[in-house]
Amino acid sequence: MRVYLNGEFVDISQARIPIDDRGFLFGDAVYEVIHLYGDLLFAWDLHIERLRFGLQALEFPPVDLDALRQAADELKRDRNFEEGSLYIQISRGVHPRSHLFPPEGTAPTVVMWIRPVEPVSRELLAEGVRVITVPDDRWAKVWIKTVGLLPNVLAKQKAHRQGAYEAIFVRDGVVTEASSANVFIVRGGVLRTAPETNYILPGITREVTLRLARALNLPMELRPFTPDEMYTAEEAFLTGTNIGILPVTTVDGRYLGKPGPVTRRLLEAFWAETKVSSRLG
Ligand SMILES: Cc1ncc(COP(=O)(O)O)c(C=O)c1O
Repeated sequence: MRVYLNGEFVDISQARIPIDDRGFLFGDAVYEVIHLYGDLLFAWDLHIERLRFGLQALEFPPVDLDALRQAADELKRDRNFEEGSLYIQISRGVHPRSHLFPPEGTAPTVVMWIRPVEPVSRELLAEGVRVITVPDDRWAKVWIKTVGLLPNVLAKQKAHRQGAYEAIFVRDGVVTEASSANVFIVRGGVLRTAPETNYILPGITREVTLRLARALNLPMELRPFTPDEMYTAEEAFLTGTNIGILPVTTVDGRYLGKPGPVTRRLLEAFWAETKVSSRLG
């Protein structure tokens, strides 16, 4: 497998990052995950735009993001699978450990690779997934997609131990998002998700889903909801790069029912956009 590392393509066995890399020492790095549907790097421009915002927010030196596209196309040439996941990580570079930013001229570390992923199964789509709620104990800048994901890792592991697929974060009594996805419900026939604030990651799949919902003339609201409102929702689903749109059917042990009509319509619209044939039975 080839990896793109600071402008070069190297075999993964030769891809080495020094111990003084700030991504390793401080989590001083941003990342993106972009899904590959066949040959299509889905929503590339939106992902790069979010990466640019993150780099600016963290006051990174300029990085040539346009060069990444060419490199991604080169990596894609190795592809021998249906769906893949492209990972980009940019750290503030390598310098002996010190909290202060490294001196001007320190080059960011840029790394990128593609790995195959299993498409979400028909069974999972037909049955939906179980989720649990957990306190949102993350920092106040989760809108920046940094690699500092420890609270997300712990939350997801907790969900897994309880036989659930995802953990839904709750802050100040309302649902923010999941450990690696955004969360939607349908209640009173209205599609609802939390508005963009510093407490959620502005998911690209969330954005695409909202656009599709608008095109379908679905009633919708950007308004937070409580766990109680989620327990009594008609429908719920997660959105994320690797999962697309994934129905949620059980929340903290309360069964909402089979994936409903709004979720199914959005799924079909999403697959049309990603040129995937329908996986609903
Ligand atoms: C915390 C969090 N929220 C939401 C998302 C969904 O974002 P996207 O649709 O851009 O993958 C992710 C993706 O990994 C995430 O980590």
